[in-house]
Amino acid sequence: QGHEGVGGGAGVRGRGPGLQGAEGQAEGKSPGLEGGKPASNDVVNLERRVGLLSGVALIVGTMIGSGIFVSPKGLLERTGSVALSLIVWGACGILSLLGALSYAELGTLVKESGGEYAYYLQGFSPSSVRKTWWAPIPAFLFAWVSVFLLKPSSLAIISLTCAEYLMRIFHVWIPICLTPIVSIKLVAVWIILLITFINSYSVNLATRVQNIFTAAKLLAILIIVVGGIVKLAQGNTAHLAKGFEGSTRSFGDIATAFYSGLWAYDGWNNLNYVTEELKKPYTNLPRAIIIGLPLVTVCYLLVNVSYLAVMSIDELLASETVAVTFGNRVLGWAAFLMPLAVTLSTFGAANGTAFTSGRLCFVAAREGHMVDVLSYVHNRKLTPSPALLFNAAIALIMVIPSDIGSLIDFFSFTAWIFYGGAMTALIVMRHTMPDAPRPYKVPIVIPVLVLLISIYLVVGPIIDSPQIEYLYATLFIVAGLFFYFPFVYLKKSLPGMGHLTTFFQLLLEVVPTDVMPD
Ligand code: ARG
Repeated sequence: QGHEGVGGGAGVRGRGPGLQGAEGQAEGKSPGLEGGKPASNDVVNLERRVGLLSGVALIVGTMIGSGIFVSPKGLLERTGSVALSLIVWGACGILSLLGALSYAELGTLVKESGGEYAYYLQGFSPSSVRKTWWAPIPAFLFAWVSVFLLKPSSLAIISLTCAEYLMRIFHVWIPICLTPIVSIKLVAVWIILLITFINSYSVNLATRVQNIFTAAKLLAILIIVVGGIVKLAQGNTAHLAKGFEGSTRSFGDIATAFYSGLWAYDGWNNLNYVTEELKKPYTNLPRAIIIGLPLVTVCYLLVNVSYLAVMSIDELLASETVAVTFGNRVLGWAAFLMPLAVTLSTFGAANGTAFTSGRLCFVAAREGHMVDVLSYVHNRKLTPSPALLFNAAIALIMVIPSDIGSLIDFFSFTAWIFYGGAMTALIVMRHTMPDAPRPYKVPIVIPVLVLLISIYLVVGPIIDSPQIEYLYATLFIVAGLFFYFPFVYLKKSLPGMGHLTTFFQLLLEVVPTDVMPD
């Protein structure tokens, strides 16, 4: 069994994902075979373990989290009418689908994992200018904001929601006083730790958890939809018949309504973070997107109709959690199923978020944009455990402040800056790499349209109702430059970094990974 690598026996697996299961590796180069030399024996890499079903579950199971059970209220409030809110729900689905189709091209053109990070690197800093000081900046800033803010904050938000509903299941039976916020936070901490353990322990376990929880949330949605159909059949159509009555006329309101809706759909790009671990990525990535996105959109529309079959607009606005109010009205003794559904749904979404966030951090570290040890993988489990743990650590810090929910608007704002950036990268690469193989080629109007909408989504709210959070978000993005120049461009490292790396390497039993080719 070959050499003993750093990680004892790990060396025999010095094959990169590029060699396993990928069809038609264009340049015949793969991470394990740089320049035709066999891979060095002390490196390991992630493996292709995610199939089509798990791929769909990674998309659907992250998209369906808390949003559909909680956001309908915000959306209705901001749009003002039933019909307009349904239109915005549908439009968010279509926008996500168009975005995801563009990502299907990006994910099959650029082989590296890491989503936007990989696309910025390839699109804005092709090898000809890679050495210049400015070329890697967009990719670095994306990694900076995602690793330190976006990804851990979504993990924190979703885990807190999960914890809250877990406690509520008990309240359906025992209507005691409100759960103290401290205990919700403590439970959220345990959820984050549990999910991080699962993901660091085994890729297969993490994908299995993802599949099971995705099935559970689809079942919950089916229950809501069937309940709604029964109510509609009994003639409860008055609330839906209100149509456009009360619609807002403010552009800014519509943009922020989109933010509530887009949070519920967020996660549509999730599979793009793990393309190196996807089996047959060229067929499975586009397929998973084409199955997942319409499925979620239809579910969301039907669920909204169901809510309105049971509740009036005012009741919906007054309800803290629509799904729970729905359950109390329709499900009788089985009302506990709704908080249970939200708990399971958010747990699955948190798992999917942790899974993919770890990969992003891992890829950025592999590229030298984060500290080295974050690009190491466990020598036997082949999981990127340092990156997973780092993401969890920041999420744990974020659980502490009191009102994290207010981060959601600002989340969509920042996220859409980056989605727009990915569309730009796609358009740029059509010019800079016109002949590169594109197993899936999206009609160019689609990314152009998504780019225009993303500009509207980012600029609209700033002009209409400027909020200090948007400024903070922008400042945070720019602040990354203070780290870029010394640590990335000049490659300075902090004193003691080497010892720290060795310490974590021994503690976590992790080893360096192979590097993807240019
Ligand atoms: N759509 C999810 C929800 O409704 C949130 C997804 C957060 N984004 C992410 N990439 N994990 O709860």
